[in-house]
Amino acid sequence: MASVVAQPIVAGLTRSAVFLVVTLRPEPQHRRAVRALCADLAGLLRSVGFRDLDGRLSCILAFGDQAWSRLFGAPAPAELHPFRAIEGRHRAVSTPGDLLFHIRAERMDLCFELTQQILARLGEAVATAEEVHGFRYFDQRDLLGFVDGTENPVDQEAIDSAIVGAEDSGFAGGSYVIVQKYLHDLKGWESLPVEQQERIVGRHKLSNVELDDAAKPSYAHNVLTVIEENGEELSIVRDNMPFGDASKSEFGTYFIGYARSPRRIERMLENMFLGDPPGNYDRLLDFSRAVTGSLFFAPSATFLADVEDEDEDEQAATAAAAAPAVS
Ligand code: HEM
Repeated sequence: MASVVAQPIVAGLTRSAVFLVVTLRPEPQHRRAVRALCADLAGLLRSVGFRDLDGRLSCILAFGDQAWSRLFGAPAPAELHPFRAIEGRHRAVSTPGDLLFHIRAERMDLCFELTQQILARLGEAVATAEEVHGFRYFDQRDLLGFVDGTENPVDQEAIDSAIVGAEDSGFAGGSYVIVQKYLHDLKGWESLPVEQQERIVGRHKLSNVELDDAAKPSYAHNVLTVIEENGEELSIVRDNMPFGDASKSEFGTYFIGYARSPRRIERMLENMFLGDPPGNYDRLLDFSRAVTGSLFFAPSATFLADVEDEDEDEQAATAAAAAPAVS
């Protein structure tokens, strides 16, 4: 098998990010605009990113399951499916999303410029479902005040956690990604004693040191999100970002998790929302409401580069096939 290059999933955290989720309009001609962008994205990224090499601009493009079948047909990545809502004490909602662009850089202007260029290229083909501008907050803290991202795997462990391998060889180099936009009840959270906040997260707030196992309740976030299979921990790669709008009292965390199987992230979500054992849910959710939720697959960079532009004839054939029959 020829070697494949993954998208820059394990590129590491940056100071700024844009999370752009769009839906693909149904008319058949729009397919073409998206397929054309797939192969051109690397060039677009070079054009913007080269303007400041220290800016570390990167972009990951991922597809929801319906978009995948519309754009690329069969075969599809083995575990690609719509995000499944979870109804527990709190609700993990499932919301529409065909394409996800995860744009990261050291400077927001780079992220913003690339977002603009992408949307200009896609034009009428898509409608924006959400665009969230994330920023890094004091010592990588979330807006709840805790350092977020410490236990992320790095180097080879990050690759082994996030990148599909031989288990689905046709899609090796790809990654499953789940995003959720959370809004925090900051007033409620801040009314808790810091010691209770620390029990909920499972770490000390100021020092970021993990609580001793004996001091950690079974509902701590870092108990419920640590999962195992055959005695081995199954990790994921996260790059959560704070975002907000102070004048509207909107304070949020945009959760993004990459994994070689979506089951890993789904199991963590089940533990958080339903609880483990059932009922023993994640108390972070008493103060953090998930308002969106979608699942995507980010194919390898090699796959994207090889997407061929469809010519006009092919486009006409697609349109004719999709048109309702007239009797
Ligand atoms: C409101 C949303 C969330 C916030 C504010 C949040 C915050 C945090 C914080 C502060 C930590 C401890 C430091 C570290 O990153 O290791 C953490 C750990 C972690 N979180 Fe979250 N998180 C959120 C949602 C999620 C979701 C939805 C998942 C997975 C589905 C998740 C998975 C994890 C994992 C796997 C760890 C590492 C646990 C460990 O190995 O100790 N988090 N999170």
